[in-house]
Amino acid sequence: METRRFAIRTYGCQMNVHDSEKVSGLLLESGFTPAGDEADADVLIINTCSIRDKAEHQLYSDLGRLREWKAERPGRIVGVGGCVAQQVGARLLKRFPGLDFVFGTHNLRHVPGMLARAAEGARTARVDEDRSLARFDLPSGRAGGGPGRRWKAFVTVMEGCDMFCSFCIVPSTRGREISRPAAEIIREVRALAEEGVLEVTLLGQTVNAYGRHDVRRGRARSEGTMPFAELLARLDEVPGIERIRYTSPHPLFFDADLIRAHRELGSLCPHVHLPVQSGSDRILAAMRRRYTRGAYLEIVAALRRARADLSLTSDLIVGFPGETRQDFEDTLALVREAGFVDSFSFKYSPRPGTPARGMEGEVPPEEAQARLRALQSLQKEQTLAYHRGRVGERTQVLIDGESRRGPEQVSGRDPQNRVVNLEVEGDRPIGPGSLVPVRIRAATPHSLLAAVA
Ligand code: SAH
Ligand code: SF4
Ligand code: F3S
Repeated sequence: METRRFAIRTYGCQMNVHDSEKVSGLLLESGFTPAGDEADADVLIINTCSIRDKAEHQLYSDLGRLREWKAERPGRIVGVGGCVAQQVGARLLKRFPGLDFVFGTHNLRHVPGMLARAAEGARTARVDEDRSLARFDLPSGRAGGGPGRRWKAFVTVMEGCDMFCSFCIVPSTRGREISRPAAEIIREVRALAEEGVLEVTLLGQTVNAYGRHDVRRGRARSEGTMPFAELLARLDEVPGIERIRYTSPHPLFFDADLIRAHRELGSLCPHVHLPVQSGSDRILAAMRRRYTRGAYLEIVAALRRARADLSLTSDLIVGFPGETRQDFEDTLALVREAGFVDSFSFKYSPRPGTPARGMEGEVPPEEAQARLRALQSLQKEQTLAYHRGRVGERTQVLIDGESRRGPEQVSGRDPQNRVVNLEVEGDRPIGPGSLVPVRIRAATPHSLLAAVA
């Protein structure tokens, strides 16, 4: 077979980025090699996101344009995976004659086989749900698959979502919640540490719900799971792991033990990304988020008592059906009160098969747009004020590589997960993966500027 070089185009959240790493790992094991770029590839895999209408349409425009890419070199293969693949399934093959195979979010392991079939001219789709733990048992390559040392890694702890927020498509694209045995997670983190990884990010759609079904049913022992805070404590003991992060936690499962973990565990970073979605109790109820504004703010207060240096970030939706001007004002007030250092905010987008789609009280698009702008401009001010407040502080930066500002600077993240750019002094190169003590010298809207301390 000639089709040996692959490229992966990834959209969506960190779970998708990690799934691409897993596909990459499987392809490397099957003898494929990473292409330098898509122009050089024989196989292109598009890992899709379906969270908003725009994300889904991105795939359709990509597939439209790929006809030329395929025509340039006969034998080229295109596969589509991820959340749109799971949602639309085999119908994608009908709609796009140039598409060779479709794999759902539980079918990563089938990619090499489907690719082999595609090379023989068979167009296949696999989107069946896999409820077995075998799903977690995949090699984790790097996105792009290149060799070299890694210093940061994602680790899956749970998958799927049983929350069914009324606006969200994820429960149907990722299936039922399932937690991986703790022993396997610990083993993976140990192996990563031995490889030189300094920072791990634990992943799950509601990551702090880890093991909850087993714990509640008294089955944690037999299923090999444990409460999330306990898992963190076990990982904190792994030698070589300097930083532990996790994403995304859900406020409903943010318990006292998790807050205590933030006080006690040395490697647990002082950053929490805790999506709130809205500051109005009426809208939170319509969203089926299962917490109130007050409950959310209590978590924030307790976290700040546990870690004074905490940075808190969030996700917000504006223009949910029935959102009044007052509801929106409540959201703005919450952003201030919670003191978000940063946030991702979105206009509500109706998704297929979700209950919110049929709800009355559509917010006119211009109004939703105006609310989004107002929210983002408040956030921008708040982010800058936070950055300014950090000038003069000493901290540590884990270097990712060259800064966007050019080769005289390297860039990395501090424990609070802010981007920090560092000036490189002529004869002292700072390589990716170094953990560097710095002093913060200046603030910009998107990053901090620091010097080696
Ligand atoms: N599991 C996470 C969120 C994952 S989706 C949680 O529960 O917090 C990432 C973000 O996309 C959500 O936090 C939400 O802000 C946004 N989002 C999800 N569905 C959306 C929709 N239909 N329209 C607009 N934004 C949406
Ligand atoms: Fe979607 Fe809600 Fe699940 Fe998050 S918790 S993935 S918003 S259904
Ligand atoms: Fe998108 Fe699926 Fe993640 S819809 S946000 S890629 S879980």
